[in-house]
Amino acid sequence: MTTSSAPGKVYLFGEHAVVYGEPAIPCAIERRARVTVEPREDDHVRVEARDLTLDGFTVEYDGSTGDRPDVAVPSSLVDAAMGYVDAAVRQARAAAESPKAGFNITVESDIPLGAGLGSSAAVVVALIDAATRSLDAPIETREVANRAYRAEFEVQDGQASRADTFCSAMGGAVRVEGDDCQTIETPRLPIVVGFDGGAGDTGTLVSGVRELKNTYSFAADTVSSIGDIVRRGELLLAESDPTAAPSEQLLTELGELMNFNHGLLSALGVSSRSLDAMVWSARDAGAYGAKLTGAGGGGCIVALDSTPETRTALRFTPGCEDAFRAELSMDGVRVEEP
Ligand code: PMV
Repeated sequence: MTTSSAPGKVYLFGEHAVVYGEPAIPCAIERRARVTVEPREDDHVRVEARDLTLDGFTVEYDGSTGDRPDVAVPSSLVDAAMGYVDAAVRQARAAAESPKAGFNITVESDIPLGAGLGSSAAVVVALIDAATRSLDAPIETREVANRAYRAEFEVQDGQASRADTFCSAMGGAVRVEGDDCQTIETPRLPIVVGFDGGAGDTGTLVSGVRELKNTYSFAADTVSSIGDIVRRGELLLAESDPTAAPSEQLLTELGELMNFNHGLLSALGVSSRSLDAMVWSARDAGAYGAKLTGAGGGGCIVALDSTPETRTALRFTPGCEDAFRAELSMDGVRVEEP
């Protein structure tokens, strides 16, 4: 039995624009998905997922046909979760050169689903790592990231950047531009997350931005302006001392860029009333800056604030379900005690 875990992430800058080759800077946070894998004698795959739907579900299917029996929970949620699990299993089998390997898989996650915190990437990364290790065929972390990207790419019909999966596999802060993925050093930023309890549909939101970009030149300009903001943010981080607490000036400047980034994402139509309400509430409470994180439509915002004020204000914001401090996770995917 092998257990691996992988972190979720917030986007400091650059979601959506990263799909069109602009750079993005996601940061891994200490909210993790844990996947336990046990190889089986046959080629069946049994998945027990406690947190991927409200009540959890267990599915067992024939690994050679991929046909799944009906399960007594809302099937769209199960289908969505199982799409990622299936794709990750295929990648693990291919990496281990064991096309008929069967597995018992248990998935646990404390990352809200579809909320912009990279829940699916964390599950896919942890699953590929645990499954390949369970077959005595471990692969390097960058290869886990690469295979996890391919799994997401497949499930999301070719609309995925490498940002989520690379960040979850490597941990810390990363910079992704097209196929170029690098880890970067940052001071420990005081990250606060607000969650509206909802989720956005990444595929639909990405398609919406693509359509807007193809129709209006302002949208294409907005995408490249987001790229400019990311490059500025990147420069600020590169000039800072990663071993020291972040300076007031750094936080002020990063916060301002986050505010600009949120405005541009709003112009692309991916914010929502509750995300905007949380963003404004964080700013009013004295946060250095705030923006939505991930695909948008609903889900989470990320703010910078070293005091508890933002969290308190968010908790009293209509539409906000949860607010928490999110420590930067320096560990990406890692093996856990089962
Ligand atoms: O909401 P998430 O965590 O799935 O992030 C999506 C980020 C996008 O840039 C919108 C899409 C992508 O694949 O990079």
